[in-house]
Amino acid sequence: MTQNGNIPFVDLVTPHRELQEELVQSFRAVLDTAGFIGGPAVEGFESEFAAYCDAKHCIGVSSGTDALRFALMAAGINAGDIVLTVPLTFIATTEAISQAGAQIDFIDVDPRTYTMDPEQLRQYLETRCAVDPASGMLIHKVLGKPVRAVVPVHLYGQMADMDPILELAELYNLVVVEDACQAHGAEYFSKKENRWRKAGSMGRAAGFSFYPGKNLGACGEGGAVTTNDPALARMVSMLRDHGQSKKYYHDLEGYNGRLDALQAGLLRIKLRHLTKWNEQRRECARLYNELLAPFADAMVTPYQPSCSNPVYHLYVIRTGNRDALQRHLTQAGIGTGIHYPIPVHLQKAYAQRWSRGDFPMCEEAADQILSLPMFPGLSSSEQGRVVEAVAEFIRSSPAVSVGVRTRALA
Ligand SMILES: Cc1ncc(COP(=O)(O)O)c(C=O)c1O
Repeated sequence: MTQNGNIPFVDLVTPHRELQEELVQSFRAVLDTAGFIGGPAVEGFESEFAAYCDAKHCIGVSSGTDALRFALMAAGINAGDIVLTVPLTFIATTEAISQAGAQIDFIDVDPRTYTMDPEQLRQYLETRCAVDPASGMLIHKVLGKPVRAVVPVHLYGQMADMDPILELAELYNLVVVEDACQAHGAEYFSKKENRWRKAGSMGRAAGFSFYPGKNLGACGEGGAVTTNDPALARMVSMLRDHGQSKKYYHDLEGYNGRLDALQAGLLRIKLRHLTKWNEQRRECARLYNELLAPFADAMVTPYQPSCSNPVYHLYVIRTGNRDALQRHLTQAGIGTGIHYPIPVHLQKAYAQRWSRGDFPMCEEAADQILSLPMFPGLSSSEQGRVVEAVAEFIRSSPAVSVGVRTRALA
């Protein structure tokens, strides 16, 4: 709670205050050696984060956007290839695809989980594409280009339904790059393998963001690629560092996209707390679910399939009267967010290609979703106050539309 009694949407001050001594010491260690680029802090973080994700390799980069771009490029995505993702995401997902030289196309989301709907992916591949007998490539019938990759987004800390996505990818020879930027530590139970799998370990590669507000956040910008493929890992480490295979030997033109040693040192300290922080987020989600259960007619709480163990980067409810509810909570001193109010395909940047109606599940969600305060350290009394304010709104407002329940969730 802030000094004026408000409840923030996210609290980034307290965890840094609690870890201040350790963080400052790590900062001093880097200053003392002036090893700002690469070195033991970066390598140490990379091996610890790879282990955390159950992945063989981790390559630290400068942001989640670069992580996705480098992963796609290193997986061999070429100019003119089509890469599929979802329209309910942050624009960085599609920027990374375009910046890798590829053309974006979208698959709508499952309205319960907000992640890629595997059935819609299947329909897209079966009806809009055909295998070219000469090249054996899967070609989009209208766009005339090869469909080469799919980027499922593990949105709000919940992994996409990976089993059917991976099965389709195998069938159609597509590269899968997970957008795990919001899902550090999230798990998915693979029925195919009969075991839990971590975000960042299932696709050919994955991109993570360490933007400060993420479950694992740097004190600035940062990101990472995880992969089990040593050749892909090697290519990402060249791409992030001007295409160098060793100092001043440039096998290709790359980018300046490294994770710096100061951030890596700070991330190493914070990584030790990530399991506990994720568990605290799950606890908060459980309590919200319980407290909001009596209002099931007026809103939908997050859906957690049995194959999913999410890390609740965000706790997102859904209601037909979202804007008025958000105004009410703001007046009550409660911070909220909308992730995201405008689907990517309706952004001005993409106005020539798509319009309203193209991805109805995503569009309906974008009009109704509201992210409530969620962070490790959010107390049960604060959650009680949030829910009390929600209840007050529901009691005082005319019948709230719950079309969402009957239509999308039928
Ligand atoms: C789903 C998603 N993808 C990609 C990114 C990009 O990460 P970054 O901001 O570190 O470039 C973000 C972060 O905001 C994200 O939430």
